[in-house]
Amino acid sequence: MTAPSGRAYLAIPGPSVIPDAVLQAMHRAAPNIYDGELVEMMPALVADLKYVARTDHQVAIYIGNGHAAWEAALANTVTPGDRVLVPATGRFAHGWADMAEGVGATAEILDFGKQSPWDMERVAAALRADTGHRIKAVLAVHVDTSTSILNDVPAMRALLDELGHPALLMADCIASLGCDRFEMDRWGVDVMVTGCQKGLMVPPGVAFVYFNDRAEAVRQSLPRVSRYWDWAPRAKPDLFFHYFGGTAPTHHLYGLRTALDMIKAEGIEAIWARHDRLARAIWAACDSWAAEGPLRLNVADPAHRSRAVTSLSLDPPQGTALREWVEGHLGLTLGIGLGMAEPGDYASHGHFRFGHMGHVNGQMIMGLLGGVEAGLTALEIPHGHGALEAAAAVLADMHP
Ligand SMILES: Cc1ncc(COP(=O)(O)O)c(C=O)c1O
Repeated sequence: MTAPSGRAYLAIPGPSVIPDAVLQAMHRAAPNIYDGELVEMMPALVADLKYVARTDHQVAIYIGNGHAAWEAALANTVTPGDRVLVPATGRFAHGWADMAEGVGATAEILDFGKQSPWDMERVAAALRADTGHRIKAVLAVHVDTSTSILNDVPAMRALLDELGHPALLMADCIASLGCDRFEMDRWGVDVMVTGCQKGLMVPPGVAFVYFNDRAEAVRQSLPRVSRYWDWAPRAKPDLFFHYFGGTAPTHHLYGLRTALDMIKAEGIEAIWARHDRLARAIWAACDSWAAEGPLRLNVADPAHRSRAVTSLSLDPPQGTALREWVEGHLGLTLGIGLGMAEPGDYASHGHFRFGHMGHVNGQMIMGLLGGVEAGLTALEIPHGHGALEAAAAVLADMHP
């Protein structure tokens, strides 16, 4: 059931809300792919992609989703028989580990559960034990979208440096880029993967692999790299089609151009600050609801919470009931719980998520929170009072 009228709000953690300007930019006749505007727009597009990731290094573009970016990053850095270390704080780390196994590597998973960030002591022990430096890369998911845990990527760099371990630091910023602070060069990240469908506000279909000189040196040392996934021609193309390993994602490029214009106009620091404020408004509301009743934020410590996505729970089946109620009555779609319980397990009906990434502002978040308040009330789910006032107070504290 969907609410009959009014503008719906898809508050799932990706794909995210697409700005009208992006949709309008994509609504056009097929452009020429050999000459003219599309070809000419590429250098500035690449420069602006680097701006968002805070890097002066290189970026390769792929027609694909986040899984494509995972595969691409591995194809350029890892060969069969290599080891990768995967500190896991949710389902997506396990997903990337599985992709690594798929290209013939052995993934050593350090599982930190679903509610805590990386334990750097355990990571240190695993790296210290690797005296022969068989671990070629650390696959580090910055924000795991399933649990909404935010991990400390600079701490991972510091640890690798302290131990003198040469493994590449590869970060998954599919959920976090353009939402949570991320600074590729300052943080010493060697490879970063992301997609266009969350903080970049474009429909799913284009993915990016950023890499620095250390990572490129590793690629050059490999006996071979798959022609399709090879990042080198994509990052330094001789011909336009090299950017994409074939036909360009024509309309996505126009959408992305407009999204990057919006990002540059607002400024990446301001975007991080906006996401931070909106996330804090959400947490304030959740704390009020949680004061009397079953609602819980998945991550207890705000320092380890993402500003892009929030994972929550109620007593099953209230999570599912709440999602269905707000979607059917209000046109508000919340995210399902992902990876918090086994598929088919009754417990999965307790988990749900808010997406608050990309094209979001205060009135949307107040609408989201007001909708949840209405749903909790309608379903007679016990909850503390004052949630909307608490959220409004966070938003009210804005400087002009
Ligand atoms: C952190 C993270 N990594 C990887 C993926 C996989 O991306 P995709 O579903 O676009 O293949 C997602 C998707 O939500 C994600 O959130």
